[in-house]
Amino acid sequence: MSKNQFLHEKIAESKLGGGEKRIDAQHAKGKLTARERIELLLDINSFEEIGGLVTHRSTNFGLEKTKILGDGVVTGYGTIEGRLVYVFSQDFTVLGGSLAEAHAEKICKLMDLSLKNGAPLIGLNDSGGARIQEGVVSLGGYADIFYKNTRSSGVVPQISAIMGPCAGGAVYSPALTDFIFMVENTSYMFVTGPNVVKTVTNEEVTAEELGGADTHSSKSGVTHFSCQNELHAINSIKKLLSYIPQNCEETPFNKTYSIHHEKRISLEKIIPENPNHPYDIRKIINEVVDKESFFEVHENYAQNIVVGFSRIAGRSVGIVANQPSVLAGVLDVNASKKGARFVRFCDSFNIPLVVFEDVPGFLPGTDQEWNAIITNGAKLLYAFCEATVPRITVITRKAYGGAYDVMNSKHIGADMNFAWPTAEIAVMGAKGAAEIIFKKEIKSAKDSDAVWQEKEKEYADLFANPYNAAARGYVDEVIFPSDTRIKLIKSLKMLENKVDNLPKKKHGNIPL
Ligand code: HXC
Repeated sequence: MSKNQFLHEKIAESKLGGGEKRIDAQHAKGKLTARERIELLLDINSFEEIGGLVTHRSTNFGLEKTKILGDGVVTGYGTIEGRLVYVFSQDFTVLGGSLAEAHAEKICKLMDLSLKNGAPLIGLNDSGGARIQEGVVSLGGYADIFYKNTRSSGVVPQISAIMGPCAGGAVYSPALTDFIFMVENTSYMFVTGPNVVKTVTNEEVTAEELGGADTHSSKSGVTHFSCQNELHAINSIKKLLSYIPQNCEETPFNKTYSIHHEKRISLEKIIPENPNHPYDIRKIINEVVDKESFFEVHENYAQNIVVGFSRIAGRSVGIVANQPSVLAGVLDVNASKKGARFVRFCDSFNIPLVVFEDVPGFLPGTDQEWNAIITNGAKLLYAFCEATVPRITVITRKAYGGAYDVMNSKHIGADMNFAWPTAEIAVMGAKGAAEIIFKKEIKSAKDSDAVWQEKEKEYADLFANPYNAAARGYVDEVIFPSDTRIKLIKSLKMLENKVDNLPKKKHGNIPL
């Protein structure tokens, strides 16, 4: 009998009646059990359990009669595609997966191992939160985990999957990790549930509306991935891992690739003739990167910016791209936060950044100003300025105003900047620029519209192109769109040994 089988049986025996019923109840809700999830996540027979015989030490409220082995969480290590990972999986069938002293100690032990051995930590969350019967030790247990989450941040990748309830302060452990996956209809996250919301604000809202996968993937941005079911979530975790290294000292695994026909002729016609017409930036991304390698992150949130992992000639890269088909690709509060977080993850884990730029500027208006577009836009700016990984920008069309600076310009440390002939690099669009600088001429003219159009053309001829920037070296090369892939392949190879160190400091002070 294997060690895992032995533990499995011991744990099954220790269930105080109704164990099978509880598992059936879990299945009836469309949920898998803690062990089934681990089995699906890890390579076959690779799981080694740690702490399977741990029980809680509480004697309050009859808990002494329910000492269930494992204390509601299965912890251990195994491999995914042969790579070491540490996993904890909360067991809702045991005291609602609630977290208290022993349960937290098991997770903390795993986090220490993950940090010391430089391997990712994956948490499968399904818990009623702090174990009510154990009082403050439950809260202490959470705080211990939060502290370790923060210590591990930027050292090893930390991934959270929410596969059931996650409420109260419990949400802060996933929030401190790098990526959150949620399962549609069976998981939710909120600081206070619908009942408290009703009491305090008189709002009536369901758990799903308040904190379901749809809400958090599109409205709040708390979750990065909304998954149709648990299997989808587990497979997505595996896919994510394939792009990222084990820890901050390593580089991502690159697939072997031999160069052949890298021209992409279809890119020559992708930009609409009218510069104000939208197009889907994903078409450019998918054409430039290795076939079917683009794995989008935060797909439903702040869709005016697109971020995700991909491969170029087998090499793992992080893509950040303005999306002209949503709000004309403008930068706003949410897009800035989304972009900044992704840039910082890539920089933490040595993943080169490739930026596709078509941005008319920052979104104007009271809503944006009052919601601190200044501070939030500065997050994206700071994140790019601070990043030391190889950084390449391709300007496909508009690069206007402050957004030109922010979107990985040469001035803030980008290594290679390319522009397509359709690029327009200027302080603002020609129409608005003409209106401001030729205000008097336009106003005093007999035919104001004609003069405005003439001045607009004059400004556009001078600035709505990439050549002024190229003449100053702000753009390294104006390239044919069809050559974009080959230029990126060569640049990424050229930059693969890049070393760039930040000035010595305790840590920076990103405008939060
Ligand atoms: C102890 C708990 C528990 C908890 C659930 N259970 N949550 N036991 N402490 N926090 C137990 C239930 O008593 C029940 O035991 C079993 O788990 C299954 O729960 P049900 O209620 O039957 O399941 P369900 O109907 O699916 O409802 C799930 C639930 C609900 C929505 C999660 O159980 C619930 O509201 N629980 C309390 C949630 C909560 O308020 N937690 C504290 C949050 S504050 P039996 O034996 O009857 O099957 C918090 C602070 C953290 O977490 C702070 C960190 C800084």
